[in-house]
Amino acid sequence: MGTTVAWFEDRIAAAVTPLLPGFTVEAVAEIDSTNTELMRRARAGRVEPVLLVAERQTAGRGRLGRPWQSAQQQEEQSSLTFSLGLPFAPADWSGLSLAVGVSVAESLDPSGAHKVGLKWPNDVWINDCKLAGILIETALPHAGGAGAQRYLVIGIGINIGAREADGMRTPPAWLRQWRPDARAPEVLGELVAPLVRSVLAFEAQGFAQFAERFAARDVLRGREVTLSDGTTGLCEGVAWGGELQVRTDTGLQMISSDEVSVRPRGMAS
Ligand code: BTN
Repeated sequence: MGTTVAWFEDRIAAAVTPLLPGFTVEAVAEIDSTNTELMRRARAGRVEPVLLVAERQTAGRGRLGRPWQSAQQQEEQSSLTFSLGLPFAPADWSGLSLAVGVSVAESLDPSGAHKVGLKWPNDVWINDCKLAGILIETALPHAGGAGAQRYLVIGIGINIGAREADGMRTPPAWLRQWRPDARAPEVLGELVAPLVRSVLAFEAQGFAQFAERFAARDVLRGREVTLSDGTTGLCEGVAWGGELQVRTDTGLQMISSDEVSVRPRGMAS
């Protein structure tokens, strides 16, 4: 089935190939999930750097085993769903998802004028509404893979056009709220090269270079939060290793696990 949208794959590939030799771009009309597909390929030994964009996902996945549903109204491609896959071997993985969030937020709102923020570990929020979600997965080294190298899959879903809240935990925000002419292919073109640069910078030098940029967009810092185990406390921001710091009755908790869900106190959990 052909795509209904021009994704300018060649243009994206030309911008990224100098950074990632062998990089290719694929666009498909429909797939279960771009993350699932790249993880399947990696497990089958296909570990080349690739960007896979889908116009529709039939089984999009979010963090913590949740589903990810794209906006229903598809005529104008009102959601952007894609995954970047590449072999990856940083010395330290901590903070990777935060670094990816920083890159996405900065591309969507370079000056910060639209208050695009980050909700630890890597949700992209505006005014407590969710604009984009990020799902990071890794596949085990394939046969013949070098040392600590894994295959990294970064999946990103962005609301481009208006959408209903229909049972979502966090009400949605969308890009056309402040960029009425925003189109998914252009947004993809704006995001990918900076994302690849950020990921490669993280691989070389870790999270510290992103810490202040995360702090500048941290939507939890200074707020009372509730953790998934019911603990409450004051969020003191993110440490240099990417851990969320929460001051509770029993002391400072450093949360590093992506499995912990954190909500501003008072928001539905
Ligand atoms: C979250 O907010 O929980 C993460 C959502 C990630 C959604 C994207 S859409 C493209 C890629 N494919 C998926 O199945 N999930 C990610």
